[in-house]
Amino acid sequence: MQTLAELDLPHLEMEDPAFARDPFSRFNEARAKHPWLATSKLGLVITQYQAMRDLLGQDDKLRPPYEDIVGVLGMEGTPWGRFTQEQLISLPETQHRFLRDTFAAKFTPRFANQLRPMMRQTVSRLLDNWAPKGKIDFEEFSSHFPISVMFALVGAPQEGIALLRDDLEAIGLAHSYELDRFPRIQEGMVRLDDFVQKVIADRRANPHAEAEDLLDLLIETSDGGDVSHRQLVDLIMFFFIAGYDTSKNVLTYTMYTLLDYPEIYARCADDHEYCRKVIEEALRWFNPGTLGRIVADDIEFRGVLLPKDQMLFFPLSISGRDPGTFPDADTFDPDRVIDPQKRQIAFALGKHMCLGQYIARAQLQEALHQIAQRIRHPRQAGEVGFRPFWGTWGLKGLPIEFEPGEAKVLEGA
Ligand code: HEM
Repeated sequence: MQTLAELDLPHLEMEDPAFARDPFSRFNEARAKHPWLATSKLGLVITQYQAMRDLLGQDDKLRPPYEDIVGVLGMEGTPWGRFTQEQLISLPETQHRFLRDTFAAKFTPRFANQLRPMMRQTVSRLLDNWAPKGKIDFEEFSSHFPISVMFALVGAPQEGIALLRDDLEAIGLAHSYELDRFPRIQEGMVRLDDFVQKVIADRRANPHAEAEDLLDLLIETSDGGDVSHRQLVDLIMFFFIAGYDTSKNVLTYTMYTLLDYPEIYARCADDHEYCRKVIEEALRWFNPGTLGRIVADDIEFRGVLLPKDQMLFFPLSISGRDPGTFPDADTFDPDRVIDPQKRQIAFALGKHMCLGQYIARAQLQEALHQIAQRIRHPRQAGEVGFRPFWGTWGLKGLPIEFEPGEAKVLEGA
């Protein structure tokens, strides 16, 4: 068995702004030097799709790093630090399993399907404002969508969206680990906490006769499942944070990609079923996440010792473009044949696999179908920027121009 010191590993400068512009070629170069492992400023990076799958399959030997990261950043006792250490994903094994099992039974494809009419109405209302303009920053437009859906899911008045959107935008950059961002992040965490507390208090004061939305479901489940008020607040905060720039960045990058595939885009306007395939391919093509994990117990993997306490990063974001797994990895093809063992892993794998994945897929599919009807023949109309690769990667700004189109009758509205 080889130790890490015996390996000659490639180094990835993931903090370099130029890296965020084109990480795919950097990962291809790294894999040419070592098939699945590289170093970075903050820890080892698993560079190959199959190695990510195999290691995440052993997640009993890995633990989430958030507690440690809060310590390293010196953020203990701050609003962000407290939340990050106590959020669902950081909880000790038994508490995590209890909470996850309590809520996972509800986060089914069926539940997500029930939300589709609301999602259609939400995106359609947004498009009523944005589509007539003919020229927009698509990233800004798409930043309104997941948050509007979350507001509808918890029955909160839409006027609060603008402020909270800016807060979520700031909070979403926490895992770029840049200390000067934190004063703004802390401010946002306090406001998000207050907002969620108020939403819960309002609903408890004015309960619906029957469970109608996600908030009813969460309150009902937490009351019946012995979940504390603090845990309920943290969970709803987590949904806002986990669901915001993940979905926004996927939607924005999907549009960016489809600018080069006008026939696929045009078909999305007419064919709802096809939008499902396009979104599945979009999640392979691009996704925003890089997971961090700490080795909890020595792991021997492919003849290499990954020692206890070693920090590992799993850039799910680029995993779908690994040419060793995906033939023609750099061709966007919604009709590609998918081997069930080689599905995209944008939502991770194992015990922390995304709880919101069915909601995320449904809202992206519904959004794409409506957008393709109302934003016709989009063209890029300016430069795009990129967010830091660590944390929640994606585009910063996507100026487009287009011809406004007619909405079709909303199915199920
Ligand atoms: C395209 C959009 C999304 C992507 C790519 C995504 C991706 C992920 C990933 C990679 C994880 C694992 C994180 C880790 O293990 O460190 C995760 C966890 C999670 N996500 Fe998502 N997510 C998305 C949307 C959402 C939405 C809309 C919600 C809520 C409605 C949500 C709720 C959660 C929750 C609760 C967890 C934690 C599960 C656990 O620890 O047991 N996500 N997500």
